Amino acid sequence: MRTIAVVNLKGGVAKTATVINMAAVLAKDYKQSVLVIDADSQCNTTEFFGGDPEAGSLAHHLRKWPTLTDPGEALRSDIQISNFDGVELICGDESLMDLDLSSVKGGDANVGVLRELRDYLDELYDPDGGGDLYDYCLIDCPPAFNAASAAALLMADEVLIPIKLDAFALRGMTNLIRQIDNMRKINPALKLLGCLPTMWYKSPRTEEAERILRESGLPIFGHIRRTDKVDDMTFVQEPLLVSSPRSAAGVDYRKFVRDLLRGGKKHG
Ligand SMILES: Nc1ncnc2c1ncn2[C@@H]1O[C@H](COP(=O)(O)OP(=O)(O)OP(=O)(O)O)[C@@H](O)[C@H]1O
Ligand SMILES: [Mg+2]
Repeated sequence: MRTIAVVNLKGGVAKTATVINMAAVLAKDYKQSVLVIDADSQCNTTEFFGGDPEAGSLAHHLRKWPTLTDPGEALRSDIQISNFDGVELICGDESLMDLDLSSVKGGDANVGVLRELRDYLDELYDPDGGGDLYDYCLIDCPPAFNAASAAALLMADEVLIPIKLDAFALRGMTNLIRQIDNMRKINPALKLLGCLPTMWYKSPRTEEAERILRESGLPIFGHIRRTDKVDDMTFVQEPLLVSSPRSAAGVDYRKFVRDLLRGGKKHG
């Protein structure tokens, strides 16, 4: 199972849109079995995929109490079937917001729970194919560094950073890279998969920002173009490959996943 946390401390940069469309392309075009974890109290991914936080969510498990003998197994029992074939889901819920980093220091948050889930899943096999139960695990992170994002970074092998090309985003990158470096002290295996420029449109400023990003030496994927079809997708609750497969972003997300599976085709 390849585990990718989709992270950026900045809000509204298309973390959720990326998780949704990546999951859908992997499941439908490549027949991959995908587990999506919603680590954000806004629950956009949970809602989109038709999850029910009342029936079980990540928040219960992140709280230290009740202390479970096998947290990985317990969390696995809360995995839900989504409304999209090939995608399963662990829901977020609103109470994730209360679990800030101070609860980690105070010992109230069980940030290792996703790691335990991963170890648990690694021991399981797909009864049909004999391979891993899930080929991919994608974690939608909140726009904050809190207990839920810490748990996500502890579980992940790789970090993907969607980035909206503006001056604020470029300035926020330094902070984010520092935080990921800090997480590497706890999870040394964590790799920076790359940055994914999102909501791209042709203008001298975005092209300049993209150039600066490429020159930073960070691995960069090809950009995802801006299109209203992404907003529309959230209303109809269907990923772009169903609702608007020929839209610019629909085409770009497919190309991004193709590059991801080919092991890069990144610049920088
Ligand atoms: N390629 C795109 N073109 C146009 N709009 C987009 C694109 N990608 C995302 N959006 C829109 O931008 C907004 C923010 O996207 P999204 O919710 O995915 O960001 P986010 O990083 O998950 O936000 P948050 O930090 O609040 O979780 C949404 O309204 C979404 O529909
Ligand atoms: Mg989001």
